[in-house]
Amino acid sequence: MNICMIGTGYVGLVTGACFAELGYKVTCVDNDPRKIGMLKIGEMPIYEPGLEKLVRKNVAAKRLFFSMSIADAIQNADFAFIAVGTPPRSDGSADLSYVENVAREIATHMKKYLVIVEKSTVPVETCEWVKKTVTKFNRKKVPFDVVSNPEFLREGTAVHDFSKPDRVIVGVESERAKKAMARLYAPLRCPIVFTDTKSAEIIKHASNSFLATKISYINSVARICEKVGANVEQVAQGMGFDPRIGRSFLNAGCGFGGFCFPKDLEAFLWISKKLGADFEMLESVKKVNEEQMIHFVRKIEESLWIVSGKTVGILGLAFKPHTDDMRFAPSIDIIRMLQERGAKIQAYDPISMPNAKKVLQNVALKDSIYEAARGADALVIVTEWPQFKKMDLKKIKKLLTHPTIVDGRNLFDPEAMKKLGFHYASVGRKPV
Ligand code: UGA
Repeated sequence: MNICMIGTGYVGLVTGACFAELGYKVTCVDNDPRKIGMLKIGEMPIYEPGLEKLVRKNVAAKRLFFSMSIADAIQNADFAFIAVGTPPRSDGSADLSYVENVAREIATHMKKYLVIVEKSTVPVETCEWVKKTVTKFNRKKVPFDVVSNPEFLREGTAVHDFSKPDRVIVGVESERAKKAMARLYAPLRCPIVFTDTKSAEIIKHASNSFLATKISYINSVARICEKVGANVEQVAQGMGFDPRIGRSFLNAGCGFGGFCFPKDLEAFLWISKKLGADFEMLESVKKVNEEQMIHFVRKIEESLWIVSGKTVGILGLAFKPHTDDMRFAPSIDIIRMLQERGAKIQAYDPISMPNAKKVLQNVALKDSIYEAARGADALVIVTEWPQFKKMDLKKIKKLLTHPTIVDGRNLFDPEAMKKLGFHYASVGRKPV
């Protein structure tokens, strides 16, 4: 089976490479000459663990190709995946102009029956619009189906998530498309949930919003814990044993970020308002998350007393570990608020520093954890990279001007930190 994957961002490139690994012939298309140029010489435009190896292997096996032309890539394709960006507009709605352009181009160039798969995260009813657009520009009346197949890949573990999915969601409107999609995903041997296209589109927005809700929920609980001196980690553990609740996504912290949760929350809110079914609860989820970052900065302020003129070392800039993605990273807002209060910032991230350089101003980017700590009045942990958990705390203590750590990801045990002589503040637990 031949696949044309349009869009080589985090979703398109990972999905394309993983389909090639399953044995399909995949052409990844992008209109960005820089990205296609890099991919053609074996360089990755993004950092995603395992991706480079997979791409190189499948290029060598002549199963994975790169092109700038939808017209060429679509010639022999059985499936055309739309995996282009749907960035947020200023009113929170998703900008679907890339999706529309691609739909039009597919319609103009397709030659034989094609399953057009909507992979980008889109508001409900987008599939219908794609179908209308393709119908309008499909002058040769080539048969086609439009399918919704939302992705559930987490950055940092995307290759694994594709290969071992909990489920695959496929929204279809015809038996022919259903059979084709079932055949496509059969090698993964996972449950395939077939729905109508609108339900599939809602599953994606509802899933991301629900996970964001879990995080804001536990962050709200963390604030109560802080008021009374309880421990949010113990609370989450106790709640998580109930299978109806589950422990995952109950990690309190300094807020969620990334290009998915904040954007999808906004888009789901926007579409629900537009449909007259206001999802007010999600406004609170958003508000709690924004406040969580402010609350965290206050915690740093409480540890330092006067922030102005102090040096703060920041550990972790990417929105989560194992990615170089800085989009909507909590570090950006936290650093800005600290700078507004007059702090000097020095920071370290294992992977995202080239991207961080583009979005952060007046931040001294350091080469290691220890250089970020050297001479700082406090060390602040924003992203839970595993190497931070293993850092040499005795060495850190010597490098800091004052042994103060403010931990936005609860990496350490407060009592152990106290024994080591740190002033240690974390989220939803008593400072020591
Ligand atoms: C998220 C979803 O988890 C994926 O299923 C989905 O496919 C993806 O969005 C998408 O729509 O493309 P991702 O944004 O890569 O994946 O990262 P997550 O692991 O979900 O983390 C998102 C944010 O929540 C991070 O900032 C993380 O630090 C934060 N988080 C996560 C918490 O603060 N607490 C938690 O317990 C879990």
